[in-house]
Amino acid sequence: MSEPADPSHPSLGAVVLAAGQGTRMRSRLPKVLHPLAGQPMVAHVLDAAAVAGARDVVLVVGHGADQVRAALGDRVRYAEQTEQLGTGHAMLQACPLLPPDIQSVLVLYGDTPLFRPETLQALVRAAREATIVLLSMEVADPTGYGRVVRAPDGRVLALVEDREATPEQLSVREVNAGAYVFDAAWLRARLPTLRPAPGGEIYLTDLVGVAAAEGRGVAAVLLADAAEGLGVNDRVQLAEAEAVLRGRVRERLMRAGVTLIDPASTFIDATVEIGPDTVVHPHTFLRGRTRIGSGCQIGPSSQLDDTIVGDNCRVCWSIVDGAILADEVEVGPFARLRPGARLGRGVQIGNYAEVKNSTLHENVQQHHFSYVGDAELGRNTNVGAGTITCNFDGERKHRTVVGADVFLGSDTLLVAPVTVGDGSATGSGSIVTRDIPPGKMAWGVPARVHRDRFVAPEAEAAAGDGQPAD
Ligand code: UD1
Ligand code: CA
Repeated sequence: MSEPADPSHPSLGAVVLAAGQGTRMRSRLPKVLHPLAGQPMVAHVLDAAAVAGARDVVLVVGHGADQVRAALGDRVRYAEQTEQLGTGHAMLQACPLLPPDIQSVLVLYGDTPLFRPETLQALVRAAREATIVLLSMEVADPTGYGRVVRAPDGRVLALVEDREATPEQLSVREVNAGAYVFDAAWLRARLPTLRPAPGGEIYLTDLVGVAAAEGRGVAAVLLADAAEGLGVNDRVQLAEAEAVLRGRVRERLMRAGVTLIDPASTFIDATVEIGPDTVVHPHTFLRGRTRIGSGCQIGPSSQLDDTIVGDNCRVCWSIVDGAILADEVEVGPFARLRPGARLGRGVQIGNYAEVKNSTLHENVQQHHFSYVGDAELGRNTNVGAGTITCNFDGERKHRTVVGADVFLGSDTLLVAPVTVGDGSATGSGSIVTRDIPPGKMAWGVPARVHRDRFVAPEAEAAAGDGQPAD
């Protein structure tokens, strides 16, 4: 990310228009909330406005306003446009909420999420000499965009929308990308004078013609890469925008020292952080607030959501959600970690093992076919195949506490609430319904303590207790 652009622009406010329905999305979800690279579309726009140096952001909401508010919370101020009468009308609702002392207003649309911070910074810089600066771009197919109409000497005369354009204007391939910086005082004075276009909408873009007719400076900054200006109006464009954003995330990570074996099959949200010398293998999804350290091997075929991974870990063919892994942890293949799984250094979780809301201290081994939920397992404890914490009695969840250096024999059922003391062990097939004190050996159904876990061989022979093998 770039630094906030321009410290000499403390007087820049921003308005993001996001009240439209987005009819062409054919969706119940407001268009600007459709996720891109794991974040609502409009969140990318708000980030760009902040990095461009806007001190205060007003978001105009209307269609699905409550949903938008719930998704974004108090990171912006909201203006409400109850009837969607056009972008100029939307802007009118925002103006009263802008602080009185701002000198320029950056205006963006909630459905153009791909502008790079540098692009908007350049726009803000150019605004010092003009009443309006707009961002334009050259596209092969200008359909749907406003056309930039210029005088023979190159001066910008107007923006003309598709519906109002003459056949000659329709063929213009320089179009309005949908980002502007206005002189705030001029904007406040002229916005109320806009009249509806023949279709009934009040176009913000008509202000360009107004300023040009007054002989005011109107500048157009041409976008070097038209892909940045993609407006998302339907789901085809949504997928295009997704591809662009994902590509940027991958590029940023690779330049920061992360190896992506197959970038095309690696899906990483914009919010994810990964340390250098970590290798991400194909078919891997890293999402949400996931943070991965350095020197890890992640994937193939894994999904990590909101998970923190230390250094030198390995996760393969596994599903991990809301877990915290210390350094040198190994997970998979075919493991599932659920929210609240906290794995200490060196823990190993193997195939068909599930952990939920449990702390596994250093070097716990849980290799096969097992479920640990609502539990705490001490360091060096070994969880035998088929071990299950029976944490749910049909009404409530209960905790299981297992000490350090414990050996849980295969197929041990721990009926919670129950505590297994340090250094103790269970025989295969034990059903543990009562606490086991430290250092004891228990087995049976229900399990009973039969002796100390470690006994001298001659004592064991004398007792002849038929203790089952671990
Ligand atoms: C708009 C521009 C067009 C530009 C294009 C770039 C206008 C009139 N046209 O066209 O010149 O080339 O973007 O992508 O501005 N909105 C409101 N309230 C409304 C109407 C719209 O808040 O009453 C919001 C929408 O939610 C959307 C944005 O403004 O986020 C743009 O509206 P949209 O209808 O998508 O405009 P375009 O036809 O794409
Ligand atoms: Ca649009």
